[in-house]
Amino acid sequence: MKSLALLVLVFLLLSIDACAQRASDSAGLNALLASADPTEVVTFKNASCGCCSSWVHHMQSAGFKVRVENVADLTPIRESLGVPANYGSCHTAHVGKFFIEGHVPAEDVKRLLALQLPAKGLIVPGMPNGSPGMTSAGGHQDPYDVLLVALDGTVTVFAHHGS
Ligand code: CU
Ligand code: CU
Repeated sequence: MKSLALLVLVFLLLSIDACAQRASDSAGLNALLASADPTEVVTFKNASCGCCSSWVHHMQSAGFKVRVENVADLTPIRESLGVPANYGSCHTAHVGKFFIEGHVPAEDVKRLLALQLPAKGLIVPGMPNGSPGMTSAGGHQDPYDVLLVALDGTVTVFAHHGS
């Protein structure tokens, strides 16, 4: 009986700890984004992701200041930034007030920043061949769209690349 009470107590302590952890992660994300320079591209990715690093280099070569934050799970970050489910790619970034999901070309990010559209962000779903950071030695290129997510969640085509 005593051990059961102890088990319940440990379980309670663990769940309180998990909640505190989640709250501090989200507060940590908000603090991080609030402190970021509005021209800085804060990029969340897995430490082992190679194509993510290639995209970071693409953005840096285009003149962007990039801060990389390696994380184990992108899902809570996508959720708090408003990236619609099923449109995920391998990394999630944030610049100004916009999210940038996946291998979005720097020129499109610049155009969005210049236009300051009433939008949440841009997405290249999946990882199309030939998108920045996804260039292969053979130079194989698939056509792909850059999608714009409006404030109300409506998704439209912002740019088309490849033939
Ligand atoms: Cu990728
Ligand atoms: Cu990536």
